[in-house]
Amino acid sequence: MKLAPGPASKKLAESVAHFTQKPLLRLEHKLFPDGESYIRFEDSVKGEDVVIIQGLHPPQDKHLTELLLMADLLKELGASKVRAVIPYMAYARQDRRFRDGEAVSILTVLKMLKAAGVDEALTVNIHSPWVLENAPLKVVNLDATGLLAVSLTELVGGRPLVLSPGKKGLEMASATASILDAEYGVIESRRDTVTGEVAVEIGLDPSGRDVVLVDDVVSTGGTMAKCVELVRRRGAGKVVVACIHGLFIGDAAEKIQRAGASMIVATDTIPNPYVFASVAGLISSHLT
Ligand code: R5P
Repeated sequence: MKLAPGPASKKLAESVAHFTQKPLLRLEHKLFPDGESYIRFEDSVKGEDVVIIQGLHPPQDKHLTELLLMADLLKELGASKVRAVIPYMAYARQDRRFRDGEAVSILTVLKMLKAAGVDEALTVNIHSPWVLENAPLKVVNLDATGLLAVSLTELVGGRPLVLSPGKKGLEMASATASILDAEYGVIESRRDTVTGEVAVEIGLDPSGRDVVLVDDVVSTGGTMAKCVELVRRRGAGKVVVACIHGLFIGDAAEKIQRAGASMIVATDTIPNPYVFASVAGLISSHLT
């Protein structure tokens, strides 16, 4: 097995190489003046089982194109098997046709991966795990909630209240709380279909307690900022915000800090300034 470090995830690929003790292929990549991607492997891959490591965080379309170029090229150069580790899977929020005529983008992305020669993909906490049942190729979805929670044990003392918003909230909050030996609950969040505003509410009383707010993704930070504001208004003490995928678009982190969070914690599925936990070991243990 050889590892192909994609331009989007070089650092994570180095960590996976460290854990697996597998060699990293040398990759030359650049952008042409018009913005098009150029990819060249400097080592032979004939007959090799190659694992590409390339996240699809912003700029998603550039990272996706690089991934497709790498997979197709590896097959063309004679690799016997091509797997893609995609620590953050883009387009997973457009997982159904919400309005007539819309693209179900995640299925299109998976079809493109298969067409480019990806035999199997491995991702972490995909936003819409249900789409994988009908995926055109095998996609293994790893869960990093446990390792994120372990990193929190070093940062949060005592027994905090663990809260999580959204559809997957109960699952994430309970998995995190079991490691922190803490009480947990869900934050009900509702997005106004006209204004896009998110309204949040909780059933538990956070007054006088330290709170851990955990979510799979922080994107614009709007949801988390609302959650932080709510628990602080209800008298919470220290508030730690944790996520698997830290996209932190624009001023997302500042928004969360301004709302009253004392710390932001994320994994390294996406390079970001708040990495406290690495998914390298988790990914490595699934690569045989
Ligand atoms: C929603 O289902 C997700 O779990 C996150 O709550 C959401 O994607 C966060 O987005 P934003 O940071 O833009 O509010």
